[in-house]
Order: sequence, then C-alpha cells, then structure tokens
Amino acid sequence: MNEIYADHAATSYPRPPQVVQAMIEYLRDIGCNPGRGGYRRSINAARMVYETRALLADFFHVPQPEQIIFTPSVTYSLNLVLKGLLAAGDHVLISSMEHNAVVRPLARLAAERGIEVERIPCNADGTMNPLQVRQALKRNTRLVVLTHASNVTGTILPVYEVGEILAKTDTLYCVDVAQTAGTEKVDFQDLQCDYLAFTGHKGLLGPPGIGGLCLSERALYVTQSLVEGGTGSRSEDENQPQFLPDKFESGTQNTPGIAGLAAGVKVITQTGLAAVKEQKRNLTAAFLAGLSGLPAIRVYGTKDPDLTTATISINMDGIDNGDLSFMLEQGYGIMTRSGLHCAPLAHQTIGTFPFGTLRFSFGWENTAAEVEMIIQALREIIKEHK
Ligand SMILES: Cc1ncc(COP(=O)(O)O)c(C=O)c1O
Repeated sequence: MNEIYADHAATSYPRPPQVVQAMIEYLRDIGCNPGRGGYRRSINAARMVYETRALLADFFHVPQPEQIIFTPSVTYSLNLVLKGLLAAGDHVLISSMEHNAVVRPLARLAAERGIEVERIPCNADGTMNPLQVRQALKRNTRLVVLTHASNVTGTILPVYEVGEILAKTDTLYCVDVAQTAGTEKVDFQDLQCDYLAFTGHKGLLGPPGIGGLCLSERALYVTQSLVEGGTGSRSEDENQPQFLPDKFESGTQNTPGIAGLAAGVKVITQTGLAAVKEQKRNLTAAFLAGLSGLPAIRVYGTKDPDLTTATISINMDGIDNGDLSFMLEQGYGIMTRSGLHCAPLAHQTIGTFPFGTLRFSFGWENTAAEVEMIIQALREIIKEHK
C-alpha cells in the first residue's frame, strides 16, 4: 500500500533531499561550535549560522540579520515573548483561534503575575474582523498576539490589517507564523510587528528542533531573556550581553538544525513562494471541491481556497474522527491528525469542542492524484458505514 502523508500542518514529511544532505554535510564537514574558537571549523560554523540569519532576514524582510534569533521552536519563541515581556497589570489580547503555545503560557502568567488575558472571538469559520482589535484595546494593553493562520481550519487571520491598527499605538504586536511561513507572504516590516515567531520544521521544510524569533528594535530593549549563559562573547562579564542576537542565544546552538533550515528555505526561494502557494492552493481547491460532493462530511473553516492554508478540518456523520483517522491509515495508507490539535480554543470557536476534527494538511510533495485518492477513500468509508 502506498503512503499518503497529509499532516504537513504538524510537520513536513518527507524533507527535501537538500535538507537531509545539508545536515549530513554540516555534521561531517564542519561539525564544530560557532563563535567558540579561532580555528577554521569554528569559523566556518559561525559563517554558516550568519549566512542562515541573513537568508532568513531576506526571506522575512527583516532589516538586520541580528534581529533574528534561533530557538528550538516557535513554542519556545512565544514563551520568550510572553514571559520576557509581560508584567503585573498588563492586558493582553489574543484571538480565539490561538494554539496552546500561546494559551498555556498566558494561563500561567495570569495565575502567577496577574496579567489580564482577553480573547477576541472569531467567527465560526475562524475569520476575524481586524476592527475588533481596535475596539478591544485598553490603556494597559501591552501586547496583541495573533496566529497568522489557524492550525485547525487553515483560516488566515487579518494580521497585516491589525499591524496597521497597532502601528498607531504603543501596544506591542506578536505574530505566530508557524502555519504560514514558507507558503504565505510573511513580511516583518509590512506586518509592522515587534515579534515574528516561526518554526523551522513545517512550511520552511527544515528539521524539527529549530525555530526562531524576529524582534523589532524596541522589543529588544523591553524583552528579558529566558535563559542566560555562554554566548562566546564578552566572557569576562558575569551579566548577559544585552545586544542581539546574543541576549537571547545562550548555550550551544542546534547547528545541524540551522544548516537544514537554510537548505529548506533555499528550496522555497528556488521554487518561488508564489509557486509554492499556487501548488497548495490548487490542492486545497480540489480537496474542497471533492468534499462538497460528499454530504456525509462536514467541512469547517472558510471554503474559499484563497482565504485558507492547505489545512482542512472535517467530521464524518456517525464516525468518531479518531476512528476515521485510523481507518484511513489502516485501509489506505493516508496519514492525518484527529482530535483537538493542541488548539482547544479554536475548536470552541468552530463548535467542535471537545471531540475535535479530522485534519488534512497538504505540503510540497502532495499531488492532485493523492487528493483524488483521499476523496475516493472517504467515499468508500461512507458507503461501508451507511
Ligand atoms: C499556530 C501554531 N503555533 C505554534 C505551534 C507550535 O509549534 P512547535 O511545536 O514547532 O513549537 C504550532 C504547531 O502546531 C502551530 O500550528
């Protein structure tokens, strides 16, 4: 049985061969710590890290490469923003489509630091009116955090419009681009945000264990580090350096991950972002069209392929979504994710809490033929369970 991987919103698989090769080459041909030695291998490691920072700065339109720091994941990046910035009395706005990577650290901060968290209610298809943000702003609103797209329904949120609104205020702005980097336009300067949190292993096609954060100049000064330690710079000083990127990059870095991430981003730039988006849009449109011919299936989120990523959530009449996911894999080799997808708020918004949905998410290697096979598999399962 052939395998069809339809869980790219979780992580991209397979990785492009260039990514695997870059990691092997890094470990084999460089393999040493950047910024920790004057010998050739250490210098080459530092060069690779710098070049990746510059590549990402170009990719996300960030003014200086140093404004990008590497972290283990977008979860870490978001924790750094929230825990490094917020203090007692602060008011924070989030959307009702956020991932637990935002919701859980905020729940802890609300309990321990007394910050106030307010959720902007999105519509049942996950869409949000940007004016709701303006209306919800208070004198003490320190931060707005929005996901660029929902990891449950794929619905794209109006993050550029919100950036326009917040640019006229003192409120800081954080955008979580876990689901869009590598497919949608993600432009740090056009977003007018202070924090852009990204992960390397999804649309950017890199390996797990590498992510990052882009910071504005004002964010650098007001955000405390979460972890302090060796940076390879100013070693005589017991205090953490306060300049970028060292303020937020202590300890040995995931250099093989950085090398793999660089290769993933190069695959995207060589293919062209527009072409990547078009390929995923076509798969999404074909899938939505196929689903519309299956009345036993309920599709959540927006049905417009231009307003969503290639992530589609469904439920089938009379079958638990966990069982359906199991049947698709056992019977047809189709890999999907069922349940709440670490985003219970989003499920409350779309009306699928606590049972969740079955999620399909397409990526760079999926084809129109695979989409058709998935529709056919669903058709057969519906017939068998009539
Ligand atoms: C919107 C969103 N934010 C955050 C995360 C967390 O990503 P990671 O596990 O790479 O930290 C995910 C992953 O599913 C996500 O979809």
